[in-house]
Amino acid sequence: MSDSSTQVVIIGGGPSGLLLSQLLHVRGINSVVLERKTKDYVLSRIRAGVLERGLLSLMREAGVSERMESEGLAHDGTLISYGDQMFRVDFKEHTGNSVMVYGQTEVTRDLYEAREKTGGKIEFNVEDVEIHNAKTDAPFVTHTQAGISHRINCDFVAGCDGFHGVSRKTIPQDLRKEYEKVYPFGWLGILSATPPVSHELIYANSERGFALCSMRNKNLSRYYIQCDLSDRPENWSDDAFWTELKRRLPADVAAKMVTGPSIEKSIAPLRSFVCEPMRWGRLFLCGDAAHIVPPTGAKGLNTAASDVNYLYNGLRKFYETGDTSGIDNYSAVALSRVWKAERFSWWFSSLMHRYPKQSDFDFKMQVAELEFLRSNQAAQQAMAENYVGLPY
Ligand code: APR
Ligand code: PHB
Repeated sequence: MSDSSTQVVIIGGGPSGLLLSQLLHVRGINSVVLERKTKDYVLSRIRAGVLERGLLSLMREAGVSERMESEGLAHDGTLISYGDQMFRVDFKEHTGNSVMVYGQTEVTRDLYEAREKTGGKIEFNVEDVEIHNAKTDAPFVTHTQAGISHRINCDFVAGCDGFHGVSRKTIPQDLRKEYEKVYPFGWLGILSATPPVSHELIYANSERGFALCSMRNKNLSRYYIQCDLSDRPENWSDDAFWTELKRRLPADVAAKMVTGPSIEKSIAPLRSFVCEPMRWGRLFLCGDAAHIVPPTGAKGLNTAASDVNYLYNGLRKFYETGDTSGIDNYSAVALSRVWKAERFSWWFSSLMHRYPKQSDFDFKMQVAELEFLRSNQAAQQAMAENYVGLPY
């Protein structure tokens, strides 16, 4: 058994773990990141690509914003359609802020590069990660790598290991409460090397089901359509996808859609999930380890970033002054913002999708709410404030 020490062990090398590790590094706090997969595997995952201003400022603070500032696309608003109607919600006008369209994969790539340049310790292909003594002042984490056992002594453990990780399950079951809602449909998404149909995102409510027109850059489009949970990507030819997507969009938008072969095609389920509390002794949960949102509104990565913000500032205060208030309040403060992002993602999902048992009345309610949103500035402001991200 090899024995080593660090200040913070970070379990999981996704965006949460990497961002936390890079921010701590900037303040002279050491960490070790333990990742179950390889870097290539982590970078092959395609996820949403809309960044809130809070995440942008964390990326700047972490010294990893250069490529994002030059390649990211600032979006001042979004389009919402229902049937053949379409309207715009102007984020800039209502909040003074915009969002940045820049893929999560690129965020993760930039973070890996920065960690490698600054000598960050990231262990890949680790197995059997276990967290010990989290309720004491001397926690430690054990794992194996290539058949060799390791023990890392530390001050704190950050559980950034996603929904299927070990960190959440380390909190005893009788001390944790989990809240969950599973939606009765999925999103079939494709990536294609075609110019986006619109320079702003289009969220579409149609009688045939939800659709979303998004992008990664000026020649890379990301499109989604609501599908059945039993659907398989291989059951959808590219032609079938494009035909269905166009049928869910206003006719003038569909007419100018440039189609092409898909580079990637996959189905994602939709889930709302929150675990309370997000802290147990010296173990802190961040990101998907503690909560999941449906992708409508792109709050997954952004909500992970807000956790990282609170934990980073709490740890920084502790190491710089000995003050434990930031880490003591972590769970309550993080959860208060998490629940607001959950509410927004649930509301936007409920407004935009077809539900299997939805009645004509339910559909009329959606249309009435969309018409209210279209014509009411206060409703647009509430949506814009949530979309650009509530303040930390
Ligand atoms: N040991 C070590 N690493 C683990 C373990 C484990 N037992 N279990 C999971 N991991 C790793 C996964 O391989 C993954 O790379 O933890 C990482 C978690 O990364 P994500 O799932 O991406 O979660 P997070 O970093 O919180 O990212 C936030 O925002 O858009 C959303 O869901 C999307 O991933 C995104 C999230
Ligand atoms: C995406 O570009 O993948 C995306 C954008 C906005 C969303 C969800 C996904 O709400």
